[in-house]
Amino acid sequence: MEGNMKSLWRPLMAVALLSLLSFCNGEDPYRFYTWIITYGDISPLGVKQKGILINGKFPGPPIESVTNDNLIVNVFNNLDEPFLLTWNGLQQRRNSWQDGVHGTNCPIPPGKNYTYALQVKDQIGTFFYFPSLAMHRAAGGFGAIKIDSRPKIPVPFPPPAGEYQILVGDWFTKSHNDLKGILDRGGDLPVPDGLLINGHGSDRFTFTVDQGKTYRFRICNVGLTTSINFRIQGHKLVVVEAEGTHTLQNVYDSLDVHLGQSYSILLTANQDPKDYYLVASTRFSSRVLAATSILHYQNSKQTVSGLPPPGPTIETDWSLNQARAIRQNLTASGPRPNPQGSYHYGEVNITRTIILQNSAPIVNGKRRYAVNSVSFLPADIPLKLADHFDIRGVFTLGSIKDSPIGSPVSLQTSVMAADFRSFVEVVFQNPENTLQSWHLDGQIFFVVGMNRGQWSAGSRSVYNLRDGVTRSTVQVYPESWTAIYMPLDNVGMWNVRSANWARQYLGQQFYLRVNTDSSSLRNENPIPKNALLCGRALGRKSEIVVDETEEQWELNV
Ligand SMILES: *[C@@H]1O[C@H](CO)[C@@H](O)[C@H](O)[C@H]1NC(C)=O
Ligand SMILES: *[C@@H]1O[C@H](CO)[C@@H](O)[C@H](O)[C@H]1NC(C)=O
Ligand SMILES: *[C@@H]1O[C@H](CO)[C@@H](O)[C@H](O)[C@H]1NC(C)=O
Repeated sequence: MEGNMKSLWRPLMAVALLSLLSFCNGEDPYRFYTWIITYGDISPLGVKQKGILINGKFPGPPIESVTNDNLIVNVFNNLDEPFLLTWNGLQQRRNSWQDGVHGTNCPIPPGKNYTYALQVKDQIGTFFYFPSLAMHRAAGGFGAIKIDSRPKIPVPFPPPAGEYQILVGDWFTKSHNDLKGILDRGGDLPVPDGLLINGHGSDRFTFTVDQGKTYRFRICNVGLTTSINFRIQGHKLVVVEAEGTHTLQNVYDSLDVHLGQSYSILLTANQDPKDYYLVASTRFSSRVLAATSILHYQNSKQTVSGLPPPGPTIETDWSLNQARAIRQNLTASGPRPNPQGSYHYGEVNITRTIILQNSAPIVNGKRRYAVNSVSFLPADIPLKLADHFDIRGVFTLGSIKDSPIGSPVSLQTSVMAADFRSFVEVVFQNPENTLQSWHLDGQIFFVVGMNRGQWSAGSRSVYNLRDGVTRSTVQVYPESWTAIYMPLDNVGMWNVRSANWARQYLGQQFYLRVNTDSSSLRNENPIPKNALLCGRALGRKSEIVVDETEEQWELNV
């Protein structure tokens, strides 16, 4: 009798709740965005080129949110090619459906739209979004995301007098399609033509400050291929945040920001009232490129003078030492009132070690990039949808191994299986003499160590198991290793990729399928009702499967 009741009313209740749930959580505020994607002429380096604009803007409009906000972003693709946006560093809890990469979402066809329903659950910090398909990112379409703490959660520094976003990155005057053509033909990208700060070349962007006040600068490296160093003439930088972690407030003359990474710094305008250079220059690159902007004191009596301050170029140990010194402030709050340090990651037992080694092979006469001897090939259907609809023959679990295997590189749609709630150690081993930057979607990890040379079990003795920073993008120095600890607490199909866009495009990426046998909505959201279907998923219905053994429903876990 009871069993009967259950089987009758549970699905009904599920349907009722799902209509509430379909856009995340009812209790948390919503922010709505309508974004029109078009081509438009831009000439950031003085050369006219075809840019990707959002609502007519390059860079795109910022997303300014507060922890737990629901972000409803309706994206209209008015380009003549398929388009997707992804959200660099947003954790997308239970929601790889909205991650916006080719392994999770069907592209938005030209002339069509798709409404992303995101929730910035339990996050604070500085992030950005960008177009994920082809080489679109080389044409723009990126913008800033910030997630402020909720009003009652303490922030470990006084409210700044103002905030500025700095989107900095290398830039090519060749069109995104020309760059894609070079890669498709098996060539290497040329040296970038310059750096942009907020879509501008040198001296064309001004940040205005009042003397005596302190400002927060949120810096993201949105570039395609190079690390940058950031500095401000005559001023110190106080690092306060790294991708959502409040850091120890170390003071620097300059800060390295690798591809895909974000930081907040505090700057106090405590110098003579004049104008100063704000400088970004490339790191670990054969040719040093630089861009300057102006820090303008409101009461300035003099325009910029002297040379822009020089920065480090190849000094690896300098960078490594700075990276090791960027640590969590264990007593500061994160997105929740309890201290960041209350999760003792160093005391959790590792259930698995994954060693990921990058390489740059030539396959069939063409340049490819690979990890553990597999160079990723996209499928004709998002892997997440293939998984959901049980469409066989799209990918094979285990098509990428847990350690380097030393065999010739093969091209595959590589997916690694992982268990929900396992706690893994990942070692990025970089045998190449170029700097690597790795990004993981859907996961936040602890950076436990990095060093020159080859990692071995003995390297664990130098791990920082106390106050390593949590983030989603980490650098690996040339001929060096970086180790992270990662609680796999987010079910989904997640992209693991090089943040160097040429490398990811030519195969230095794979998917991590974090799985559980339970289909509880507490572990994973249902497929969105508006999910776009494509390839072998065409004609399937977005049916919602509910695990009837689930005892409780929680709208706000
Ligand atoms: C496209 O936009 C309309 C509103 O203009 C919205 O109702 C619809 O759900 C959107 N389509 C998708 C697939 O999200
Ligand atoms: C860490 O955070 C605490 C609490 O907000 C703050 O008082 C302290 O100054 C911070 N310490 C450092 C070194 O940043
Ligand atoms: C970790 O493993 C050790 C040894 O097997 C065990 O004694 C300890 O209780 C485990 N710790 C946790 C937090 O599970």
